[in-house]
Amino acid sequence: MTKPRTAILTLSDRSYRGERADLSGPALVEIVKTQGWEITEMLILPDDLDIIRDTLILWADSGDIDIILTTGGTGFAPRDITPEATRHVVDKLAPGITEAMRQESLKITPHAMLSRSVAGVRGRTLIINLPGSPKAARENLEIVLPVLGHAVQLLQDSPEAEAGH
Ligand code: MTE
Repeated sequence: MTKPRTAILTLSDRSYRGERADLSGPALVEIVKTQGWEITEMLILPDDLDIIRDTLILWADSGDIDIILTTGGTGFAPRDITPEATRHVVDKLAPGITEAMRQESLKITPHAMLSRSVAGVRGRTLIINLPGSPKAARENLEIVLPVLGHAVQLLQDSPEAEAGH
């Protein structure tokens, strides 16, 4: 069983400035730890395209991280820039992941239409944008969680991946 090494990146100007507690990062950590997966990095950054892009590149190219989960900055607010930063760094998009998140989330709230999140692969690292509220981040991660182990096996070209087909 593959246990993806997972990094969590919270994108929020207010949390970065210490004006609002980051509840979403810890909510994601809780779910990831329940799976027995390792948390390799956890960071809060402002909604700044260059800073987000550089961090995603650094983490993905480190060779130590299988999955990067971002939370926040996927909506329509002027500063929301996470999907654009993610598009800058991925080699391939993984639209099935975000299609599933929006399809299932629409059963919970029509506001799911307002998530512009993207998912994609850089090298052997899968990057997934999740929304910013702890509730939304949790719900979206739970939707995709069942496929992530297999996704990482495929990225690693692992023989175990065959068994999962
Ligand atoms: N998805 C689920 N499952 N549950 C939610 O409560 N909230 C939505 C949406 N996706 C939500 C959801 C809302 S209100 C917004 S604005 C978008 O995600 C984008 O969120 P973000 O700007 O915090 O990234």
